[in-house]
Amino acid sequence: MRIGFFDSGIGGITVLHQALKYLPNEDYIFYADTSHVPYGEKPKEEVRDYIFRAADFMANQGVKALVIACNTATSIAVDDLRKKYDFPILGIEPAVKPAVQSCKGKRKKVLVLATSLTLKEEKFHNLVKSIDHHDIVESLPLPGLVEFAESFEFREEVVVPYLREKVSALDLEQYGTIVLGCTHFPYFENSVREIFPEKVDIISGSVGTAKNLKRILEARNQINDGTGDIVYFQSGSKVVDKETLVSYKKLMGRLDELEL
Ligand code: SIN
Repeated sequence: MRIGFFDSGIGGITVLHQALKYLPNEDYIFYADTSHVPYGEKPKEEVRDYIFRAADFMANQGVKALVIACNTATSIAVDDLRKKYDFPILGIEPAVKPAVQSCKGKRKKVLVLATSLTLKEEKFHNLVKSIDHHDIVESLPLPGLVEFAESFEFREEVVVPYLREKVSALDLEQYGTIVLGCTHFPYFENSVREIFPEKVDIISGSVGTAKNLKRILEARNQINDGTGDIVYFQSGSKVVDKETLVSYKKLMGRLDELEL
């Protein structure tokens, strides 16, 4: 059986890329809801509906586990998805805990970058409340990065000015760790690095999700002996055109070059 990965668009590939490192012999289905991306600026109820439609599709494909490789979808639906399906459902949360730990004793703050919907959600506020005992966690919505990613616009000369404008009111020296709290953001690691002080740590939650997936499959005795094959779907239709498949492959190559 395959493992399902779901995202609004290409962000989930950053998580799938990590999963392939820990579970290279699994086979995967990657589902991008390209008809409805971006999720992060839409009403919550509308997005929930899209997520459940996609999860039903994955369930019908007979996946053995489903990774919600989208921070926005995780924050608004992961708990309810777990109630509906009987296979393991993993989500991805902004890596606030390791970020706060890495700032301990350094008198530095944490800046969480994510979509507006993720940052508005109770799940995020509860997470921060449970970890941030010294008020060092701040957040900044960056919807433009989702749009850049979906149009395959990764050029630093385009992305860096957008980021500079977004952080123009912040004192960047005060941050010790930047959390990439949206799975679309790791593609822009270089641009993020460019605008923050050199020593800043940049972390994402995808390694944690990949390790967790491996642990769960091992515990359930469900480790495969496959080939790392990936079947791609876009909002329910199988991707067969060569150009799109090549562009997904290129994204994997781009991620190979980054340090995350
Ligand atoms: C989006 O569709 O707005 C991005 C979703 C996410 O990864 O948080």
